[in-house]
Amino acid sequence: MSLAGSQQKIFLRLVTAIRPNWRSDQNLPAQIQELFAANRSFGSRDRRLYRELLYTTLRYLPWIEPLLDTDPHRAAQTVAWLAADLPATRAYRTEHCRDWAPCPPTVAAKAAHLKLEAAALLPDWLARHCPEAALAPNLDALHTRSPLWLRLQTADAPTTARVIAEFTALGWPTRRSTFLPNAVELLAEADVTKTKSWESGLLEVQDLGSQLILESAAIARGERWLDACAGAGGKTLQLATLLGSAGHVAASDIRPAALRELQIRATRAGLTNITVLSAPPTTTYDGILIDAPCTGSGTWRRAPHLKWTTTPGQVAAAAEKQLALLAQFSANVRPGGRLIYATCSLSRLENEDVVTAFLATHTEFTAEPPARAFKATPRPVGLAILPAQHNTDGFYVAALRKK
Ligand SMILES: C[S@@+](CC[C@H](N)C(=O)[O-])C[C@H]1O[C@@H](n2cnc3c(N)ncnc32)[C@H](O)[C@@H]1O
Repeated sequence: MSLAGSQQKIFLRLVTAIRPNWRSDQNLPAQIQELFAANRSFGSRDRRLYRELLYTTLRYLPWIEPLLDTDPHRAAQTVAWLAADLPATRAYRTEHCRDWAPCPPTVAAKAAHLKLEAAALLPDWLARHCPEAALAPNLDALHTRSPLWLRLQTADAPTTARVIAEFTALGWPTRRSTFLPNAVELLAEADVTKTKSWESGLLEVQDLGSQLILESAAIARGERWLDACAGAGGKTLQLATLLGSAGHVAASDIRPAALRELQIRATRAGLTNITVLSAPPTTTYDGILIDAPCTGSGTWRRAPHLKWTTTPGQVAAAAEKQLALLAQFSANVRPGGRLIYATCSLSRLENEDVVTAFLATHTEFTAEPPARAFKATPRPVGLAILPAQHNTDGFYVAALRKK
């Protein structure tokens, strides 16, 4: 059997292993990792190939699933055709798509070629919660691999030059953002955590859209902020950098393990203006960031299994929790201070509807227009950063000022 033939067999075996769970398991990526770990013969190139094929299957599940029962070979060929053209997939795709026309870039053209429905690729509730997501160009962005964005801790020329020089020496091309001087896209499939730049705390992996959340709020240097849902600290580190050494961030979360990780990252970055809180905050702050737990529909290009495991009931439950978090932490904003609310959800129910409900019962707050909008889509309150605008994950952000 040819190499591509045996790779197809392995791919179909992996599909059979995850199929029972792919419409129910929110932790499917962990199962995929376990399957890879159990296959001792897999090298990093094999993992890259099968990961891309499995994630493509999940992205286009309603197109692939019926074929698996009637014609598994055709299902595998269709996945190969839809998969991204990467160094790890190129030979496999060439072999399996020999007699196929080149795969067009848009979902509409792919659907027309395969005589399938584009609308089937998103759960129907999402089109009601975020109509733009179900249409080009956001539908196309949601069905494309996410780019890899880095945030350099500083935008100064020597730091940037040092990082770019290391990546160039490794053969990794980069592209700098045209509007955020310290945002850099890595145009190679590479593990930055193995680089000197990462070890010495010069950079963090952070999607460009995520970086835009705090950048849209024009954070003033020297202020005291609370990052109420800090997690492992992606935005805490960015906030600490924006506030400068005269400013300060207190970080809280209900997950102590994530806060321990945050501490490690802060130490690596050399940031001394971050304190991790071990109990709920009792004081007031100039600003509070609530990067709320959400259903994560903005991350579906990165985590396509969530399209099939998230339910409208979970969206409603998340919205309830988000409203409670806003109410809880609003008490810790000083008069004249700000509350920044953010999610990585595309659903209006978790975004502007939550903020509108909060403002209706907390009349001491008013919504402010963003200081910088980055061409994001205005909502009745706040901004939606849709995936196609800057080829990012999807986010929502609103800035609320306390009277
Ligand atoms: C979207 S994640 C935060 C991501 C993080 N800000 C970052 O940039 O990497 C939401 C976080 O909210 C935390 N969380 C959930 N309920 C909470 C609560 N009641 N109080 C504080 N944090 C909470 C979760 O543990 C999770 O880490």
